[in-house]
Amino acid sequence: MSRARAAIILAAGQGTRMKSDLPKVLHAVGGRPMIDWAIAAASEIGAARIVVVTGAHAPAVGSHVTAKLGSDAVAVQDPPLGTAHAVRAAEGALADFDGDVVVLYGDAPFVPADRLERLFTQRSGGNLVVLGFEAADPTGYGRIVRGDDGSVDRIVEQKDANETERAVKLVNSGVLCADARTLFKLLAQIGNDNAKGEYYLTDVVAVGRANGSATHVLIGEEADALGVNSRVELAAAETIFQARTRKAAMEAGVTMIDPATVYFSYDTELAPDVVIEPNVFFGLGCKVGKGAHIYANCHFEQAEIGPNANVGPFARFRPGTKLADKAKVGNFVEIKNANLGPGAKVNHLSYIGDADVGARANVGAGTITCNYDGFFKYRTTIGEEAFIGSDTALVAPVKVGARAYTGSGSVITKDVPDGGLAVARGRQANIEGWADANREQKLKEKAEKDAKK
Ligand code: UD1
Ligand code: CA
Repeated sequence: MSRARAAIILAAGQGTRMKSDLPKVLHAVGGRPMIDWAIAAASEIGAARIVVVTGAHAPAVGSHVTAKLGSDAVAVQDPPLGTAHAVRAAEGALADFDGDVVVLYGDAPFVPADRLERLFTQRSGGNLVVLGFEAADPTGYGRIVRGDDGSVDRIVEQKDANETERAVKLVNSGVLCADARTLFKLLAQIGNDNAKGEYYLTDVVAVGRANGSATHVLIGEEADALGVNSRVELAAAETIFQARTRKAAMEAGVTMIDPATVYFSYDTELAPDVVIEPNVFFGLGCKVGKGAHIYANCHFEQAEIGPNANVGPFARFRPGTKLADKAKVGNFVEIKNANLGPGAKVNHLSYIGDADVGARANVGAGTITCNYDGFFKYRTTIGEEAFIGSDTALVAPVKVGARAYTGSGSVITKDVPDGGLAVARGRQANIEGWADANREQKLKEKAEKDAKK
């Protein structure tokens, strides 16, 4: 990579078709805002500078980008007057930049870094390269009309295209690569005399030719260029993301019985020989170790599942859950902000929150950590090889020592020493013959009452 690279990400459009208070580019695919997909692609190709062009109507986009990349990475286009106008809005931020620039869209999450890499290699001198694709249905896209030498003659927008041009299936993805200085020089010459009255970035082809810069087209895949304008398209993008992620997981050694029912986030990490049964959802920040088995119907967020652990069916892991190797969590168990040591078991109907559970400890059915007093949260510690009797309420902050037992049904409010037993419930009293005597008495009363009727 000899020349410096920059990326301009356009995200100032209104996104009205989303019908949302949330700006379009902040809607997520695979749990990651679309704008972050574009930023990630820009980082992957080694862009030393990234500028996101945002609209004044959507300050949340600016704050989002500022938090990630700093305020220098934000350029405001106000009002938005078209894609060429949008790229020009980034000119100030790149005033001192010398090198190649790629234009990306904030609402196109799948443009792969290796394609972009090829755009940079194809660009040379003052020439430009656009990323195109053969569209199954070209409606709405700018049509790429090529000249006899194969280079781009012009890009005609849907609204400005005639009958013949509309039949062209080779369309513009919007991604474009050029020498930064040349691009800004050409953009300054673009006007807005067209059907939409906008400054079209695509007019750079004609202006370029007049200035001795040719435009070439690199042909990519339609799915890679997919742009999201509506909720329906957002769902379509999600479907593509999930299908690709499932396939990649299986290729990397993960078994799924019914892959179409398993949902991943962009950052889900799965080791080989993980088995995932149907209906499992991985939210952000999940990691599963080698050989772990996830039974059906589980929901995870920010959870780490260790090697050879067994989880589910019907388990829910909320943020901060960590299971060490061979830990076991069974049905109807919720875990939050808790660590389970190697071989620890929480097999049935429990809530374990803000807790540390030692290696090989066994937590009986129906155990609850009472971690919240309505104002603050407190921790529960369960020692190694401790045995928590069924239906124990552990009122935090509290510690159960190593190897200690708690009696079933106990409400534990004081620490339990290592190797001890805590029983905290009413003592059982047996009254011999009570039930038989009671039954006799009641039957007698009933007979007397009936006789009076
Ligand atoms: C654009 C292209 C079209 C291409 C299509 C691919 C032009 C003129 N047309 O059309 O050739 O086939 O994308 O999806 O470039 N934006 C701004 N500021 C603006 C206008 C747009 O930042 O003033 C941003 C939008 O947020 C969006 C992107 O630019 O991310 C594309 O804008 P959009 O209006 O959707 O362009 P299309 O009409 O779809
Ligand atoms: Ca669009």
